[in-house]
Amino acid sequence: MIKIAPSILAADLINIKEEVQLVDNNGAEYIHIDVMDGHYVPNITFGPNIVKSLRGVTKKVLDVHLMISPVINYIDSFIKAGSDIISFHPEADKDSNEIIKKIKSNNCKAGIAIHPNIQVKDIIQYVGDVDLVVVMTVIPGFGGQEFMKSEVNKILELCEIKKEKKLNFEIEIDGGINDKTAKICKENGADVLVAGSYIFSNNKDNYKTLIDSLR
Ligand code: DX5
Ligand code: ZN
Repeated sequence: MIKIAPSILAADLINIKEEVQLVDNNGAEYIHIDVMDGHYVPNITFGPNIVKSLRGVTKKVLDVHLMISPVINYIDSFIKAGSDIISFHPEADKDSNEIIKKIKSNNCKAGIAIHPNIQVKDIIQYVGDVDLVVVMTVIPGFGGQEFMKSEVNKILELCEIKKEKKLNFEIEIDGGINDKTAKICKENGADVLVAGSYIFSNNKDNYKTLIDSLR
């Protein structure tokens, strides 16, 4: 069954505890935390302190998406804060193998995120070592953007690689997910769907309906 990962980027931050507990109680499997540094992407969001705070309010999987450069210097603090999965963009630092090793040696899951400008062939060397591959269907940096259909073929490509190489990584789709684009992703083999503005910018009474509508 497909997993849903609400992105707190679109949540009402003054009520973040309530927001996260609401999506938790309404069935979300992962809580997606978008970390942006104003350097790898032109926006600044959260650091490890948010992960630490959320660790205290939910037992769900804290799915941390690093959009930062460099990456390696920050891994320890995100692990210490209580991350369950840490994904990063390989082009944002020098040694992706070292980053993956560092994440996994601390009992955390590692993920590779694919920017729309990066091709599957450019990250294929890492797929055997990671737990998650994030297909970005928007240019990283902001919530509320339109889903890029051009990226859907990467989902299919990753599914084929998984089958061929008998691998177990999950395929997560991030950006522009709503009930219609979710359908396209599921048909092409997605395992996890990130959704920010589709879930959070609506009436709080609707969270269950909205989460269910993505399955
Ligand atoms: C974009 C982030 C996404 C974003 C998704 O850089 O990685 O996770 O929060 O937001 P929506 O669902 O609004 O496109
Ligand atoms: Zn994200």
